[in-house]
Amino acid sequence: MLYRRAIRGHIVAMAILKIARMGHPILRRRAEDVADPSAPEIRALADDMLETMLDAPGTGLAATQVHVPLRLVIFRVPLTEAEDMAGDEPPLTVLINPVLEPLDDGMEEAWEGCLSLPGLRGLVPRHSHLRYRGVDLAGAPIDRTVEGFHARVVQHECDHLDGILYPQRMTDLTGLIFESEMRHRIADARAAEQALVDRALVEQAMKELAAEAAAEKAAGA
Ligand code: NI
Repeated sequence: MLYRRAIRGHIVAMAILKIARMGHPILRRRAEDVADPSAPEIRALADDMLETMLDAPGTGLAATQVHVPLRLVIFRVPLTEAEDMAGDEPPLTVLINPVLEPLDDGMEEAWEGCLSLPGLRGLVPRHSHLRYRGVDLAGAPIDRTVEGFHARVVQHECDHLDGILYPQRMTDLTGLIFESEMRHRIADARAAEQALVDRALVEQAMKELAAEAAAEKAAGA
């Protein structure tokens, strides 16, 4: 699908690209460094990837997912807690030739999806704290220290550049499910949480009864 959009007085054709799905060999190969990040064709690629990601819709997209074996990813995540709280549209990051550096051994699990595995969700462990570097479309350096969801998205997208899909990061494949069945996992999680609350209430009640009994015994003695 092609359509046209005016940018700075020019009419530019933008394209929604075909997204490779798990099993296509492009998703298994290591992508090459981008030689000139500020080249017009790299900007055109990033523009098309943005259109593709917004159409899908998705949070991030790697060039390999649109059949281009170059080390370029895009994603939209809040950059600060204030931005997150404000709930505004998160800014777009175009990250070229990324280098990732986990900052400690801390890992956390959360649900991920991927446009190359439509309809699926997986519970994936990722490094909690991450420093990442690279350059943007102007060739200017990007150097960020991030955590949580932001760190997760960057790890997911940059894995694509090394031919890795999120199921390969999973340690327990019972956590790989269809999105349509997520409600069962949510119900299970709620029930487990309620069981913990119930147990705590019972323990508290038992303690109080024991304390009362001890007090009565002391008073009676
Ligand atoms: Ni993905």
